[in-house]
Amino acid sequence: SFRGPRMRAALRAMEVFVTRRIPPAGLQVLAEAGGCAVRLWDSEEPVPRAKLLAAVAGKQGLLCLLSDRVDAELLEAAGPGLKVISTMSVGFDHLDLHEIKKRGIRVGYTPDVLTDATAELCVALLLATCRRLPESAEEVKNGGWTTWKPLWMCGYGLSGSTVGIIGLGRIGQAVARRLKPFGVKKFLYAGSRPKTEIAAEFQAEFVPITRLAEEADFVVVTCALTPETQGICNKDFFCRMKKNAVFINTSRGAVVNQEDLYDALVNGQIAAAGLDVTTPEPLPTDHPLLSLKNCVILPHIGSATYSTRNTMSVLAAKNLLAGLKGEPMPSELLL
Ligand code: DGY
Repeated sequence: SFRGPRMRAALRAMEVFVTRRIPPAGLQVLAEAGGCAVRLWDSEEPVPRAKLLAAVAGKQGLLCLLSDRVDAELLEAAGPGLKVISTMSVGFDHLDLHEIKKRGIRVGYTPDVLTDATAELCVALLLATCRRLPESAEEVKNGGWTTWKPLWMCGYGLSGSTVGIIGLGRIGQAVARRLKPFGVKKFLYAGSRPKTEIAAEFQAEFVPITRLAEEADFVVVTCALTPETQGICNKDFFCRMKKNAVFINTSRGAVVNQEDLYDALVNGQIAAAGLDVTTPEPLPTDHPLLSLKNCVILPHIGSATYSTRNTMSVLAAKNLLAGLKGEPMPSELLL
């Protein structure tokens, strides 16, 4: 690799497009790199597709978000100079890795730094759903709270429960670690393969997804969205679940068949659901799921703490710069 003046000259030639206003810490890393020309879509709202396609043309680097679809069309629009794509997310289902790899483009992402925040949100959503917090808070405001009633606003608690985790990866483990002190009796997990050493911390048992559905009081989805996991929480899955079980998804909306989930919630096949992710995002405000009291829906805020989003932006910027310089990235997705 080259250093000094030659390196500076090489960087000077580099142009990158950042698809959204990201936390300033990340932009500062790019600014301080010097010589790397940044074009920023300086808005809270996504860049329209046509503008995105125009803006990437001739760029060497792209810093994008999970809401930007990076596919063959975009890669063609960027042209052969594109060397690196850095996504400010741990999820990469918005990237067409096959097309990216074919073109020899490197990819950076942001694992680890958002694990704690996302696991925390997952636990918050689980508790909000199983103890009916949004519904209860609403009753206080609308006058539904008339007196203390023995049978009113009862839900389901974690103590003595069985928790089934779909995807015992970084976030799934962090969720299990946080739920254990609530008195969970048994952890089950499903995924592509057993993770015996990791699972030992929670005495978690690797089971087929069908058994997880049948035995869990709480189903928590923390797996990546892949062709294998797309739509796995479907009619058959919900029919197997217990009537008093609670379903939580903080991974990607498309892991769930939302029509089947709606039916399960309406027909009392399951007790409640908490979703931080949906298809599409945003969920239209007239979507049937939003009419259900036993469904708590959040706007994809798993990683949304100030400090986590700052850290994600810095990591995404560092990945981008390392990729431009042909150096090892702090967090590279190996294709
Ligand atoms: C991710 O990073 O993939 C999350 O969905 C948002 O932080």
